[in-house]
Amino acid sequence: MRNIKPIIDPSRPKVYIETYGCQMNVNDSEVILSILQEEGYALTESMDEADVILANTCSIRDNAEQRIWGRIDQFKLQKRKRDGVIIGIVGCMAERLKDKLLEAVDLVAGPDSYRSLPELLRAIRPDNPQINVLLSHEETYAEISPVRLDKNGVSAFISIMRGCNNVCSYCVVPYTRGAERSREPQSILREAQEIYANGYKEVTLLGQNVDSYFWKDKENPANNVNFAQLLEMVAKISPELRVRFSTSHPKDISDEVIYTMAMYDNICKHIHLPVQSGSSIMLEKMRRKYNREWYLERVKKIRSVIPDCGITTDVIAGFCGETEQDHKDTLTLMEEVVFDSAFMFAYSERPGTLASRKYPDDIPYETKTKRLNEIIELQGRMSLKSNEKEVGRRLKVLVEGPSKRNPDELCGRAGNYKMCVFPSRGEKAGDYCEVEVTSVTPATLLCKRID
Ligand code: 5AD
Ligand code: SF4
Repeated sequence: MRNIKPIIDPSRPKVYIETYGCQMNVNDSEVILSILQEEGYALTESMDEADVILANTCSIRDNAEQRIWGRIDQFKLQKRKRDGVIIGIVGCMAERLKDKLLEAVDLVAGPDSYRSLPELLRAIRPDNPQINVLLSHEETYAEISPVRLDKNGVSAFISIMRGCNNVCSYCVVPYTRGAERSREPQSILREAQEIYANGYKEVTLLGQNVDSYFWKDKENPANNVNFAQLLEMVAKISPELRVRFSTSHPKDISDEVIYTMAMYDNICKHIHLPVQSGSSIMLEKMRRKYNREWYLERVKKIRSVIPDCGITTDVIAGFCGETEQDHKDTLTLMEEVVFDSAFMFAYSERPGTLASRKYPDDIPYETKTKRLNEIIELQGRMSLKSNEKEVGRRLKVLVEGPSKRNPDELCGRAGNYKMCVFPSRGEKAGDYCEVEVTSVTPATLLCKRID
């Protein structure tokens, strides 16, 4: 069996990688490490002994980028301590800022250029930094087996597609990750089987918009694969292997996907369905291509087929021109849906996006913050309400490890993605336990054992 864990070898040159942003970036770091291990590098978890220091970066909001500039200053201190240390910025911020970053570091590589990293590293000289930010229409790193960077060997991520064709007006991703392309299904299946053979119990299929996954077989259209079919193929690997996916787009999530979820016990009953706003006027300006009613209908459909399906979301406060009424529409939608949890953000204008060109970023900082705080406060109440419904329910939990607060207790997620805490009987990460929910907090289900 192929080794999918990092090589730790003091005799090899060492690479240190910090990852920012989304799960796709985490998976990209695993691809990068795979490429660099082939080139003779080994991983180090200490920046102080690294020959190459990489930051895999995120551009989604301005504060994500500001953080990286701070880290670059820290990395540079290593250069003063040791000769020959290479500093590289890869990922979305590399793609967005290109030459501007090249003034500060030795290496700049965008999300589609990781195969050229060995060549770039070899070409670097003190006064000759290297850059590759070409975007591709084909690159999916399909046959590269990522070196797994997770700590517990239970849950792994598989990128099934790259890029995004949606051009939501606020979003920088289409510019940093390029056009959408789907990965060949057999390579996805092979990777999922490899993960399972290595003892993993959960895979999450990743894409900016998994519902638009589509593999076109050039020779035989009967072999075309859509997302629902891919999900089923992965679910069939083993009933012991849980399958998750992220992110779904409200405009694209199909009935076929919802029915496929319902058919297989090992497809987790959780959908991350970013709403962004509850106001149809804002949704139109955001170019989300659905309105409030459409979103609510999709939620209704999901719950009619899978009554206890976990639904989580993303919300943006203070988008361009957002009125008090638009904001209230977001709050009432949140109250109507009762999301299990949400990622909530203040709008951050990104240079080059449609919104930055077309609409002034006109909501004052104080108003954005006030609205965001109202959204966060409401979601806290909704999370509690959603968790309270779980009291008395029986759930199957995949153990992640000991609970942080009490070593005699275990923690892990139920299929609906809720975090459960319950008494340990010596089980380890990767075991399944049956529990019953006895009480809740907004973030956790407290459970007793029933197995
Ligand atoms: N400002 C604030 N939040 C944003 N997101 C994407 N772009 C922006 C932006 N410019 C949020 C969206 C998306 C999540 C990944 O990040 O809610 O779903
Ligand atoms: Fe991920 Fe988007 Fe950040 Fe890129 S900009 S790392 S795609 S969250």
